[in-house]
Amino acid sequence: MPVRPLLPHIQRLVRGLALVPVWLAQVFWVTKSFERNPILGSSTLNRLGLHVTRVVLAHGVTRLRWLLMAPLMPAALKRQYFKDGYLVIPDFLPRDEFARLEQEVRGYRGEVRECIQGDTQTHRTLLDPHALDDLPACARLVANRAYRHPLQWTASRFGLPMLFIEEVRNGFAQGGGEDPQKNLHADTFHPTMKAWLFIDDVPASRGPFSYVAGSNRLTWKRLCWQYQQSVRGRDLPDRYARRGSPRLTETDREGLGLPPATRLDVPRNTLVIANTFGFHARSAVTGPSTRLAVYADSRTNPFNPWPGVDLPLFNRLKYAGMRYLRRRQDRRAAARGTVASWHLTNPRGNEDHKAAGG
Ligand SMILES: [Fe+2]
Repeated sequence: MPVRPLLPHIQRLVRGLALVPVWLAQVFWVTKSFERNPILGSSTLNRLGLHVTRVVLAHGVTRLRWLLMAPLMPAALKRQYFKDGYLVIPDFLPRDEFARLEQEVRGYRGEVRECIQGDTQTHRTLLDPHALDDLPACARLVANRAYRHPLQWTASRFGLPMLFIEEVRNGFAQGGGEDPQKNLHADTFHPTMKAWLFIDDVPASRGPFSYVAGSNRLTWKRLCWQYQQSVRGRDLPDRYARRGSPRLTETDREGLGLPPATRLDVPRNTLVIANTFGFHARSAVTGPSTRLAVYADSRTNPFNPWPGVDLPLFNRLKYAGMRYLRRRQDRRAAARGTVASWHLTNPRGNEDHKAAGG
């Protein structure tokens, strides 16, 4: 029997077998994609309960970390966060201090990366320790316990989340279609934290963050819904859902007994913190608009009960790792003749769009 025609099949098989340990390790990691990991995406394993076991275990471990870190957070804020899944803290900084922060954030010209989703551009600049050396008001914010502690507790990690200057630019990408972040969705299968200290006022016209209050809670109905999603897994109609970020239809929302989303129209100097296991979205807007914020993001291994330590060295390594990863994605994309999903962009664009009335 000739071997040559079989070679591509053999090569594929060997490559697949080599990846099995990686796929297995990802079962106990943040990996969420049904599409990219055949173990997580196996409808047979998910029928047997693989996905829902991960969901329950991850929530249990996060609860334990919240308990271990309980002294960081006032009881009233904890209750609110458990009940609704988000916190809104207005007038967060004293007025003078906020004015200094605003001046720095608007004036900073660090490396800006852009992600385009539909017609929305998201611009982010890393607020790493190196950047903070030039930004005293941002450095004071990061050192401020009233900011640090709620972020650490909601993220259930002592290590600080990644910090960025973020500008969401609605309607600025040409011909991109619909922004997938404007559909209600959960980011992943376990509690994660995102936070914005808004530099801009965010009325309805600027596409505020919106959240389905109480959708952070792992109820029996939600667990059944997660089960159904996992069984369909790789066959779900939405590409983001196939990658582990499930979308919520109106019918699903009613079935889950959840209220309509609350649109968080907030004034500048408001801190919003959300558990993005709960359903959330960017509100729809017509026409171009922007919103500027100091943004924090934390997604760590939900199966690790150890809440970590807050060491400056680890913090520096985290940012160095992020920079390395982004540069590697740049090189790989360039080799394919394209750009990475988070690609470098011209910071002058900020001024151009403001002149255009953002
Ligand atoms: Fe999200």
